[in-house]
Amino acid sequence: MSEASALRLPHLLGIRELSAEQIRQLYELADRFYEVLQQPTRKAPALAGRTVALLFFESSTRTRLSFELAAKRLGADVVHFSATGSSLDKGESLLDTALNILAMGVDLVVVRHKGVGTCHFLARHLPVPVVNAGDGTHEHPTQALLDTYTLQRHLGSLEGRTLTIVGDLFHSRVALSHLILAPKVGLRLRLCAPPTLVPPLWYRLGWPVYHRVGPAVEGADAILVLRMQRERQAFPPLASWEEYARFYQVRLEHLRPGQLLLHPGPINWGVELHPSLQAWPEVRILDQVTHGVAIRMAVLYAILGSP
Ligand code: NCD
Repeated sequence: MSEASALRLPHLLGIRELSAEQIRQLYELADRFYEVLQQPTRKAPALAGRTVALLFFESSTRTRLSFELAAKRLGADVVHFSATGSSLDKGESLLDTALNILAMGVDLVVVRHKGVGTCHFLARHLPVPVVNAGDGTHEHPTQALLDTYTLQRHLGSLEGRTLTIVGDLFHSRVALSHLILAPKVGLRLRLCAPPTLVPPLWYRLGWPVYHRVGPAVEGADAILVLRMQRERQAFPPLASWEEYARFYQVRLEHLRPGQLLLHPGPINWGVELHPSLQAWPEVRILDQVTHGVAIRMAVLYAILGSP
């Protein structure tokens, strides 16, 4: 077994806590699990006998199913919690809820919550590892890891490559995780959004900020398009959604042959992406979803696997 198998993480709360070397080892583990997923059985039961709880206090399709499949492919048992229909309605606190679930015999929790910092809070108070599956507008570390892993699989090395991120930079936890991840993997970022959707401090980070899609994507190796996070926005970023689409939608005319197109999903076709781009030869959006299972297997294994 190579050195990647020896990678041990206590939790995965954010990209901030990962070193460049640990990220490299996670990609290496994901390569190994990606191969497993190509086999007919798709199983590597390294976590047999372990139990993973998925605590989702916010809606999710890809992330929840991807963590569930990742845990099951590794042989772990999986239990689900979703906020609707739970005793949260009866006034139970987040910590009490989590402690009660752990009392049933759980080895790791994967948490998605609208509260920024919820995963860090739980990691301080729970006796088991915590994996952040998205905490409010803060971080979504496994999404950024699977996006860059997808880029690496298609581009080879990430060093010196350019990724343009277009969309709601202000409210997107995916964007913030990428901002922290890019320097650790040698990616160059370009950022593109209406001025109202760029956090003011981001102008000082050294990455170019654009307010027009054309120049932002010109010459980039890949474009990551983000959804408008309407549920977190008090007001539309421009006068109307139609205006947003008119000025910030990524369209065929912006792209050049070979440029990879990524999106973490869910996509609002016709808003951030023109529907004709479904036929763009370099759409890698479903590859992201496929690679997400391998990356999450790598994360769960790095936390729970025995050395
Ligand atoms: C993202 C999220 O939930 O932050 N989606 C995802 O996890 N695949 C992005 C989004 O909701 O727009």
